[in-house]
Amino acid sequence: MSLLIKNAEIVTATDHYHADIWCEGEQITQIGKNLPGSSNAEVIDASGKLVFPGFIDPHTHIYLPFMGTFAKDDYSSASRAALAGGTTTIFDMCIPSRNENPLDGFRQWNSQAEGKASCDWTYHLAVTHWDETVERELREVVAAGVPSFKVFLAYKGALGIDDVELFHTLKLARELGVMVTAHCENSEIIAELQKELLASGKTGPQHHHDSRPPRVEAEGVHHLMTFAELLGTHCYIVHLSCDEALQVAMAARYRGVNVWVETLIQYLVLDKTWAERPDFEGAKYVMSPPLRDARNQPVLWNGLRTGMISTVATDHAPFDFQSQKPMGKDDFTRIPNGIPSLEERVNLLYTHGVAQGRLDLHQFVAVASTNAAKLFGLFPRKGTIQPGSDADLVIYDPQFRGRLSHAAQHSAVDYNAFEGFEICGRPAVVTLRGTVMVRDGKFVGPAGGGRFLPRKATHF
Ligand code: URP
Ligand code: ZN
Ligand code: ZN
Repeated sequence: MSLLIKNAEIVTATDHYHADIWCEGEQITQIGKNLPGSSNAEVIDASGKLVFPGFIDPHTHIYLPFMGTFAKDDYSSASRAALAGGTTTIFDMCIPSRNENPLDGFRQWNSQAEGKASCDWTYHLAVTHWDETVERELREVVAAGVPSFKVFLAYKGALGIDDVELFHTLKLARELGVMVTAHCENSEIIAELQKELLASGKTGPQHHHDSRPPRVEAEGVHHLMTFAELLGTHCYIVHLSCDEALQVAMAARYRGVNVWVETLIQYLVLDKTWAERPDFEGAKYVMSPPLRDARNQPVLWNGLRTGMISTVATDHAPFDFQSQKPMGKDDFTRIPNGIPSLEERVNLLYTHGVAQGRLDLHQFVAVASTNAAKLFGLFPRKGTIQPGSDADLVIYDPQFRGRLSHAAQHSAVDYNAFEGFEICGRPAVVTLRGTVMVRDGKFVGPAGGGRFLPRKATHF
């Protein structure tokens, strides 16, 4: 079946024009004025809508054993949520535990995703310890199409690595042309601050922030930048939340370090007062790095507008409010970290970014799709609209007005962190490789047809 999108107002990171889009065999094959239909083509009239390339979330946790439990979604529910919100490709964090090797993780994540994911996916592969086997298997997984690593400078004693492990990981990445994505917080300072806070009776979710203040994140960035500068590795700082950390990253960029920065939709629209809500409700808003003081939000928007920050991700890590967040009822350090937002990211970014005049349409497409495709080796298959690209299209209705709610969401988690938030715009139709997956906010596609996207290393 072919697909013809008529009367499209096409918006990419660089272009904005009116045309029809013809898709055949999973790809866009022609773009032009007044393209003729054919009897076996599905025709969608996009009049009055904007047509964007499928959005890309460069940082999710779908399968995630973490803090003594498992994140609530699986690839089936999460990919429906992603697609309903306009995201057609996700980068999931593939995280073998400290006593597993990279191939164990790769096989485990594949077994979770294959046949269940309805959107396309790839991974960043976490390095959680270092020895000869790890090095050999990392080379194998890179050759199998995963040329990006993940390191945690936080989560001491669990996923975090030490400086010797960091050194060898960055050295290998440099040799292989691999990008290293990194969670930057100083785990030693966090551990000491946590002990002090708990000892003084500060056990509630509102104290999570003070165990990981902005300078702790900035120090993590500084630490990574020192290694990246000495070893020449290309690094991508995940979930950067604050002014202090951005300044350190940009100082490194000024010195010539190849560094890119991701922020999250949560940091752009929520602030730390959400984690201070009474009756343990703040636990819904515990994540790391923590939600920050509102003074950071204009800094992050400015970073996106000016190119200091390249991407907006979700770090989707859903844990139920009723049954999982209470693991930390009497000790905030045990609250499973994460604020789900996979389905909400694009609509919130459009609403708070484009509709409120903080980003133009091209900046919006760049930070929510194109830049991730370029940085991680998917462009131009993904991240743009041109002949030869996958027919991943979001036909977006900028006139839609509605509110986000748990009742309407596709994610399996038992709350919506943005309950009642107004959205100004929503995908009317989402296609994945030429197949309609979403209509008017509802998943209507064939389930489980998502594909693993093998990539090649580009960071030499
Ligand atoms: O709080 C967070 N960010 N949870 C997910 C794990 C991580 O650190 O990315
Ligand atoms: Zn993290
Ligand atoms: Zn994460």
